[in-house]
Amino acid sequence: MGQLISCSSKPSRQMLPRKAEGDMADSSSDLSQPPSHSDGLPVLKMAKGHYWYPADGPRILDACGGAGVACLGHGRRDVIKAVNAQMEAYTYASYAHFKCKPVEELSDWLIKSTNGKMEKAYIMCSGSEAMEAALKLTIEYFGWVGQPQRTNFIARHESYHGTTLGALSISGHHTRREPFHALLCPPNNNNNNNNSNNNSSSSSSNFHHIPACHPYRQRLTPSESDAAFVARKRAELEAAFARLGPSTVAAVVLEPVVGAALGCSPPVPGYLAAVKAVCRRHGALLVYDEVMCGMGRVGGGGVHAWQSLGEDDYEGDEDDDEGVVVPDLQAVAKGFAGGYQPASALLVGGRVARFMEREGRVFTHGHTYQNHPVVAAAALQVQRAVEREGLVGNVTAQGELLGRLLRERLGQHPNVGDVRGKGLFWGVEFVKNKVTKEPFEPGLKVAERVHTRAVREWRVLVYHGQGCAGRGRGDHIMIMPAYTVSSKLVAKIVERVACAVEEVFREL
Ligand SMILES: Cc1ncc(COP(=O)(O)O)c(C=O)c1O
Repeated sequence: MGQLISCSSKPSRQMLPRKAEGDMADSSSDLSQPPSHSDGLPVLKMAKGHYWYPADGPRILDACGGAGVACLGHGRRDVIKAVNAQMEAYTYASYAHFKCKPVEELSDWLIKSTNGKMEKAYIMCSGSEAMEAALKLTIEYFGWVGQPQRTNFIARHESYHGTTLGALSISGHHTRREPFHALLCPPNNNNNNNNSNNNSSSSSSNFHHIPACHPYRQRLTPSESDAAFVARKRAELEAAFARLGPSTVAAVVLEPVVGAALGCSPPVPGYLAAVKAVCRRHGALLVYDEVMCGMGRVGGGGVHAWQSLGEDDYEGDEDDDEGVVVPDLQAVAKGFAGGYQPASALLVGGRVARFMEREGRVFTHGHTYQNHPVVAAAALQVQRAVEREGLVGNVTAQGELLGRLLRERLGQHPNVGDVRGKGLFWGVEFVKNKVTKEPFEPGLKVAERVHTRAVREWRVLVYHGQGCAGRGRGDHIMIMPAYTVSSKLVAKIVERVACAVEEVFREL
């Protein structure tokens, strides 16, 4: 590991941490001043590589890319050039009037990246739009195939699928749903009780939530095997189908590796295969939300999370390659264009796409900015860079280091309940009691305190969240550096984050 920072004495606001002092070298601002804050937030001057540069104050090491977006880091000339070139050629063209080369190329690239498992792509601007489209295409598909009674969706507690009404309805994120219950399609009396096997759902809603796949809080005993755990999860899903009536279920919707709602929780081996088997048995579709965990973020076998979560003994059904559990629909965003443009996509698998081709069906859906050429130019350049520079391989290698260092440095801390993740997608869950796993009172805002301490005192930006223990309780931070991160930077991130964590709990 790199040079350690001493956390024994708390640096004052004016005094920079010793490690952070090195970061001042290329900051032109007055470094003796604390960061300028408007409503508590630093005012940003620029961003370059792995660093944010506030208007006044030393640079901040970016360990989360905003909300897991900046997968290539900041200020990449090649992407800026590609965006500018597209803007010079033309900035906007309606998808109803023209075919645009970058959009066509990006769609082809996306389909190829799935090894042809996904056969159609719709390019959009946000994760919420892509998830909303996934819900609508599911319903329209079942209308086309003569099964209009399939109107129920099964999703999971502690999940987030977006902020628009359909996407929020399918989300199981307690606090983000709460203010809008009256609008959520129609109101769903979701108990959101993660720790029970209570498959709460309201019969008046199309949206039903079952417990997430969260081994840290759900294994019956520490020694419960993966197979036994997965068998219980499968039974929960089967029970939800049975309760709703299997022929009324349109789709199961899930994040393969749960992001902000659960703090980077990968599935237990065998889980995705079990979910797909249940979907297939009852004729429902499987929808993956890879908005946060996709496009290389979890490293491994390919750019899509499902390619990286392969299971050795999974033979697959007709849609799958051996070892990988392929979805019917898939949403991607965030790392898709790395923040250089607001980009997302809905990918359509063979079952639905081939029906559409064969029957000449067109998805009744469209946004003004769908298939935006500048968005496509940015995403294409980002993805080509990821491919050309072998960055998914770096995600795998640096991700292993990141996970190991986080566990070494924080695993034994009395208030760290769990360190979990995959690739460059790692979460640290904080608990009041390590043995009982009791979370902190939400009002203490423990994760936010860690975030604030990390950015103000240790000049490292992490993403914080609440709700990972269910019902809005439970605190976690997420560490999601750019795919270009080096071992040295990984060590630096871990040390700074660990110092911030230690200080916050020392003072609590
Ligand atoms: C898993 C997941 N799905 C969907 C969304 C919504 O994406 P957006 O904020 O781009 O609309 C998010 C955003 O954080 C997300 O993390």
